[in-house]
Amino acid sequence: MLGRSGFAGIFSETTTWKPRLKKGPAAAATTTLFCIIFITLTFMASVRIDTSLFSAYNSRNVTIRISEKHKKPTKKLEIPLNCSIRNQPQSCPTNYPTSFSPNDLDPSSTPVCPDYFRWIHEDLRPWKADGITRDMVEKANRTAHFRLVIFKGKAYIEKYKKSIQTRDAFTIWGILQLLRRYPGQVPDLELMFDCDDRPVIRSKNYRRANTTGPPPLFRYCGDKWTMDIVFPDWSFWGWAEINIKPWESLLKDLKEGNDRSKWMEREPYAYWKGNPFVSETRRDLLQCNLSDTQDWNARLYIQDWILESQQGYKKSDLASQCTHRYKIYIEGWAWSVSEKYILACDSVTLLVKPRYYDFFTRSLKPLHHYWPIRDDDKCRSIKFAVDWGNKHKKKAQAIGKAASGFIQEDLKMEYVYDYMFHMLNEYAGLLKFEPRIPEGAVELCSEIMTCSSANGLEKKFMLESLVKGPSVTSPCTMPPPYQPRVLGKFYRNNINIIRQVEKWGNISDSQI
Ligand SMILES: *[C@@H]1O[C@H](CO)[C@@H](O)[C@H](O)[C@H]1NC(C)=O
Ligand SMILES: *[C@@H]1O[C@H](CO)[C@@H](O)[C@H](O)[C@H]1NC(C)=O
Ligand SMILES: *[C@@H]1O[C@H](CO)[C@@H](O)[C@H](O)[C@H]1NC(C)=O
Ligand SMILES: *[C@@H]1O[C@H](CO)[C@@H](O)[C@H](O)[C@H]1NC(C)=O
Ligand SMILES: *[C@@H]1O[C@H](CO)[C@@H](O)[C@H](O)[C@H]1NC(C)=O
Ligand SMILES: *[C@@H]1O[C@H](CO)[C@@H](O)[C@H](O)[C@H]1NC(C)=O
Repeated sequence: MLGRSGFAGIFSETTTWKPRLKKGPAAAATTTLFCIIFITLTFMASVRIDTSLFSAYNSRNVTIRISEKHKKPTKKLEIPLNCSIRNQPQSCPTNYPTSFSPNDLDPSSTPVCPDYFRWIHEDLRPWKADGITRDMVEKANRTAHFRLVIFKGKAYIEKYKKSIQTRDAFTIWGILQLLRRYPGQVPDLELMFDCDDRPVIRSKNYRRANTTGPPPLFRYCGDKWTMDIVFPDWSFWGWAEINIKPWESLLKDLKEGNDRSKWMEREPYAYWKGNPFVSETRRDLLQCNLSDTQDWNARLYIQDWILESQQGYKKSDLASQCTHRYKIYIEGWAWSVSEKYILACDSVTLLVKPRYYDFFTRSLKPLHHYWPIRDDDKCRSIKFAVDWGNKHKKKAQAIGKAASGFIQEDLKMEYVYDYMFHMLNEYAGLLKFEPRIPEGAVELCSEIMTCSSANGLEKKFMLESLVKGPSVTSPCTMPPPYQPRVLGKFYRNNINIIRQVEKWGNISDSQI
């Protein structure tokens, strides 16, 4: 399961330039890396219980005034966890602020969210006309791991079954951090969450006008045959089992790694490292590895997580895996969380035609953010891409930069929270019933999850990704939905570009 993670199936739009085809590709090897790697532990014991800070806010009904009518913005409020004294049962704080007034009260000063937020409208479209009934939500419990209820700013979980690894715990942790970041701003709601890989709500079962609407089910990825609602995956708060730390600090490491290793000085091949045993297509990829008789410009490695864990993950440090000019992304059992790590590298991402998408991948554009690779002729496709890039270094570097820029800017942690915020707000707006706390649900808060229960890396990652206090800025402004024509054009453009690249590959072949 380590090798799984996802990617999106549909690409985007126009490209800014077209590579010119040169004849006669040179041989080279590609290596791709499916790196799920990890990084050293910079444990920041930043979360201490600081009672003095907290004592100013201990009335029951607190409003934070961050700015007093246009005057100097007040500094950011930090509210540490309030862990109870040893041997006393841990409870959730009753004095966390329940509302906030950010610095930027003028809405025109908040930036518009990145383009991929527009897919929130698309993902919720099936319920736009008639809304979501309680019955529809209940039906989504068939595969769900838990029901999340947000009621008066607090989170309650009704757990149905255990998820793989700590996916459920870190997903819930992420939602609790969202509530710390925007207290009182997330409306009451009930939703079902499925932590498994593959989407399950088949569109074709809900096409007839007289069937009940589809059950709204949240998960990490979707594809074009299903209607599951995509939501950021657990790895943004850390993946304890394989030592991948929370996204915010990992992003910094990746940036530093890029500054250390310039594109021109990197190996001129395509790199991939991952678990090939999760899917047929990955096993197939291994045939493209360098051998005595052929060189497809690929350098492929199997990730041995057991060995890595014994060696303290020294070789799986993500930030030190940006050593090749090209990195291959290939889906595993479904989408793969590795995609963001690969795109962040400054290398050209060679993206093997994906089936799945996650919340941000649908706005990636072929030839702008990545180079499309055929799934039915991987080796030749990879070799062509690497030869092309090594001949057109400027353009190749621009693709790498566009992708890492997208990841660093549009996918920074603030936007991940804003995506969750807007998704949950739009979703809650569709509910046709009054959310309530079900019997058997328990209140969860950051204190309950960390003070005495979590341990080891899990606890460390949670404390590291703890939201320190309410945001001093408002969430970004939600962009409007795509016009249907624009969306249609967007799909067609992407398909055309991908076809064009396949054609180039064919032409050059005939000239070998
Ligand atoms: C921490 O929580 C306890 C109750 O569990 C409360 O009595 C105490 O005042 C809280 N401490 C702070 C600093 O808010
Ligand atoms: C909180 O304060 C508001 C306005 O001051 C008031 O209307 C509301 O009833 C208070 N809520 C509680 C729980 O005290
Ligand atoms: C799902 O909901 C139905 C109806 O509300 C209930 O009968 C069933 O037990 C629930 N299933 C699970 C797994 O909770
Ligand atoms: C739905 O409509 C079709 C034909 O329009 C009909 O055959 C079918 O019985 C209807 N199903 C339900 C559940 O009403
Ligand atoms: C691919 O080839 C390289 C170089 O020969 C080798 O080190 C590596 O182990 C090979 N990978 C696989 C998965 O066989
Ligand atoms: C490329 O060639 C393959 C067979 O060699 C063919 O199946 C495919 O349709 C061609 N693609 C394009 C875009 O011409």
